[in-house]
Amino acid sequence: MKKDNSEILNDNLNIEIELLLEALYRKHGYDFRNYGKAHIKRRVLHRLAASGLNYVSDLQHKLIYDDNFLKLLLDDLSITVTEMFRDPDFYKAVRQEVFPILKTYPFFKIWHAGCATGQEVYSMAIMLQEEGLLDRAQIYATDFNNIALKKARDGIYPVDKIKEYTQNFQRAGGKSSFSDYYTARYDSVILDQSLKKNIVFADHNLVTDSVFAEVNMIVCRNVLIYFNKNLQERVFSLFEQSLIPGGYLCLGSKENLRFSNIFRNFEVENDKEKIYKKQYHTRTIKKNNV
Ligand SMILES: C[S@@+](CC[C@H](N)C(=O)[O-])C[C@H]1O[C@@H](n2cnc3c(N)ncnc32)[C@H](O)[C@@H]1O
Repeated sequence: MKKDNSEILNDNLNIEIELLLEALYRKHGYDFRNYGKAHIKRRVLHRLAASGLNYVSDLQHKLIYDDNFLKLLLDDLSITVTEMFRDPDFYKAVRQEVFPILKTYPFFKIWHAGCATGQEVYSMAIMLQEEGLLDRAQIYATDFNNIALKKARDGIYPVDKIKEYTQNFQRAGGKSSFSDYYTARYDSVILDQSLKKNIVFADHNLVTDSVFAEVNMIVCRNVLIYFNKNLQERVFSLFEQSLIPGGYLCLGSKENLRFSNIFRNFEVENDKEKIYKKQYHTRTIKKNNV
């Protein structure tokens, strides 16, 4: 059947976007080629409108010849929205179901992959502190967005978020007063610096980098929703290799391990809160056995 004009325009746009992503990868090493198409299209069109240019191909030219443009495009493509104790019931479940197991280890490691500006990591550190576990923890907080990582390292957040964070903290079963964990300064709050004594913030790209630690728990929430199925599988396999037997994988509310190739090596710890536990005896999954 013959395509109508809008279908042809859409096909052309898709080609231009693919070429832009190819240029981004070949020129700068950032690989967005397997991110979800709808997300990428939305963000590229946003940058096109903001740039006042006519065609996505014009963006490609800018990306190749104007070094300042890279930062703008990366900022558009990575969504760093986050909050402290996001989805409070998730934190409650971790405290009730995962912490009792972590307590059986003299020392354990947690990896927050895609930690954005750090609120999720500090939330975990506060809970560990309340349970007397922070000194036993080594926490890796990684992201490929270095601007977000710098904010994570600083642990300074706008004061107008504190009401929401406090409510989340209470709903997550926080034991003390949330105000014990920060100091207000003008329009910001500085989180208690002792929370980060066991946190290492590091640049890590889930698409191009490999396993870097054997960990007891991985928290990767609201990151995989931006990836297509193939890329999700790659990252799941990275997580499976990084987890020790009996380790936990925590995903975001819209993410799911059930349909992945590695699911057979996991059991569901908490279906609603997307907490999975790696089995002690796992089967190697051959590429043609999927
Ligand atoms: C929406 S935020 C989620 C933050 C936090 N995990 C939460 O749930 O509140 C998604 C984060 O994933 C990061 N991200 C996206 N692609 C990534 C990749 N390939 N490697 C590492 N981080 C990535 C983004 O930079 C962003 O900080």
